[in-house]
Amino acid sequence: MNPGNQQKGTTHMNTPAIAVHGLRKSYGGKVVLDDVDLTVNAGTVTALLGPNGAGKTTTVHILSTLVRPDGGTAFVNGCDVVRDHGGVRAAIGLTGQFSAVDKLLTGEENLLLMARLRHLGAKRSKTRVVELLEQFDLVDAARKPLATYSGGMQRRLDLAMTLVATPSVIFLDEPTTGLDPRSRHTMWDIVRGLVADGTTVLLTTQYLDEADELADRIAVLDGGRIVADGTPDELKRLVPGGHIRLRFADAAALDTAARLLDESDRDDAGLVLTVPSDGGVGALRTVLDRLDAADVEVDDLSIHTPDLDDVFFALTGRADTKGTAS
Ligand SMILES: Nc1ncnc2c1ncn2[C@@H]1O[C@H](COP(=O)(O)OP(=O)(O)OP(=O)(O)O)[C@@H](O)[C@H]1O
Ligand SMILES: [Mg+2]
Repeated sequence: MNPGNQQKGTTHMNTPAIAVHGLRKSYGGKVVLDDVDLTVNAGTVTALLGPNGAGKTTTVHILSTLVRPDGGTAFVNGCDVVRDHGGVRAAIGLTGQFSAVDKLLTGEENLLLMARLRHLGAKRSKTRVVELLEQFDLVDAARKPLATYSGGMQRRLDLAMTLVATPSVIFLDEPTTGLDPRSRHTMWDIVRGLVADGTTVLLTTQYLDEADELADRIAVLDGGRIVADGTPDELKRLVPGGHIRLRFADAAALDTAARLLDESDRDDAGLVLTVPSDGGVGALRTVLDRLDAADVEVDDLSIHTPDLDDVFFALTGRADTKGTAS
């Protein structure tokens, strides 16, 4: 349990921590956010998934009061992001905003500075900094200047800085972009720990696997519009493409199997049959039972469940999030 959870008492599991309706933003003549709706329940993780230029950072900046929307409404912890900057800022933490941390100071000094800026008091500041250094695996690096930190360590310190005052809602704008696989997993564990402690997280990402790993809900943002919103499983169900792939030893077995499984697609050269399926055990058992009953042996079998790449392709007509720079 995070010992600094006092501020979290104001949110309840049933009240959305973030409620966005009809949000609009343009820069010059360019529409960047076009009627965006988004609800994030307290104590959950929502991933805002989208390619470069989709409007992710703009959304996060509006929600953290750094950018003023042109239209629509947005509430964080019940506070209006336009009318109640103070209320919103007291509830949130935003990573990325501390890229101006003092690189000549040590990690510990930076954290202490932030704690004092947040009016924590000398004694409480010290204990909070010790807690954070441990939580973020920065004890060994605590007394070293930030200039010597690796990318992963800096990202962890960044997040620790935002958590000094135990915000109830945190925004993570692409928290793992540029990190190696091990640092990504460390960051994922940290996010899971925060959520277990009751923090609400809105994270933006270009990575489908990250959204799938962490998020209770995923909102797909493309060209300033939410093109899909649901649990990872709901999004996957939107997409056809699940199938069982069976390979046989010879043409005779393939023939018999193709007759038994009438919905299947056959590839004579590869001796392969592809059977549409939701990827579940029940469907697999039905297929294997039918083949068994006719004494048809399967040489090789694989199951393909639709993943978020398939979802993105189905929703936006593009295979992935790359190559769509703004
Ligand atoms: N201050 C600004 N002035 C003009 N245009 C802007 C400004 N901020 C953002 N934009 C434009 O708004 C669009 C959305 O930008 P935004 O940074 O929100 O996208 P993003 O989804 O965060 O992209 P990325 O994955 O590259 O971080 C882009 O076309 C960008 O050029
Ligand atoms: Mg961005």
